[in-house]
Amino acid sequence: MKKRQLKEMIRILQYDVIDSTNAAAKKMAKEGAPNGTLIIADRQTAGRGRRGRQWSSPPGTGIWMSLILRPKIAAGNASMLTLVMALSTAKACEEVTGLPVSIKWPNDIIVNRKKVCGILTEMSTDSKGIHYVVIGVGVNVNTEAFPEDIGSVATSLKAELGKPINRELLKDRILEYFFEDYEIFLDKEDLTELHKDYESRLINKNKEVKIIGTDIEYEGKALGINSKGELLIEDRTGHTQVVYAGEVSVRGLYGYV
Ligand code: BTN
Repeated sequence: MKKRQLKEMIRILQYDVIDSTNAAAKKMAKEGAPNGTLIIADRQTAGRGRRGRQWSSPPGTGIWMSLILRPKIAAGNASMLTLVMALSTAKACEEVTGLPVSIKWPNDIIVNRKKVCGILTEMSTDSKGIHYVVIGVGVNVNTEAFPEDIGSVATSLKAELGKPINRELLKDRILEYFFEDYEIFLDKEDLTELHKDYESRLINKNKEVKIIGTDIEYEGKALGINSKGELLIEDRTGHTQVVYAGEVSVRGLYGYV
């Protein structure tokens, strides 16, 4: 297949300030914005993270962007797109900084055991299928200060590399890697072809972890992921548990990773 240029695949809407690129993308998607619309802002006043947390998004320092997709796939497979974006973002960060970059399952991007990027995927579906998927990506690129409560787990690429990074270049490389990996994902609607690449960066692999759900908590060894992107855990009885991303968080036994 002929390699398509990024500009053929996306339409970019750029803002100086916005409440949240995910909130704006969802609103635009409901109003009919086409597949491949990207909303990007220099600053967010109400950036949102997973589990209702805030996402600090100071001006001129990070990549705060949300991509609207309308994939013709089974609704149950769309959550894997979060892992596809995590992989693309990790590869782009690695290429642009030269630093080793890992993924903490399912979608935190880690440098030197601290988080540089988070991904928030939201979607709208009905019995007929997917209306839209919004994949929000927040990368702490040149960020220098973080709120006190996340200071021990958050970092930026600049802080780890010791020099600033070109945000425009990094954004383009994330999107280029993403559209390559997205085509591969769409072929089988799962991670069969991407799974090795993802696992090679998986910081939890072969590590002792704690699985924390709403009414369950247990320890075990993370073995890797399956082709659906679920985490495989060998529990203390030697059984393999399959962990679905929506239901739990994963911690190292003695901290964040
Ligand atoms: C996480 O909790 O790790 C996910 C963080 C996702 C943050 C990004 S920044 C761009 C987009 N807009 C938002 O409001 N959130 C996502």
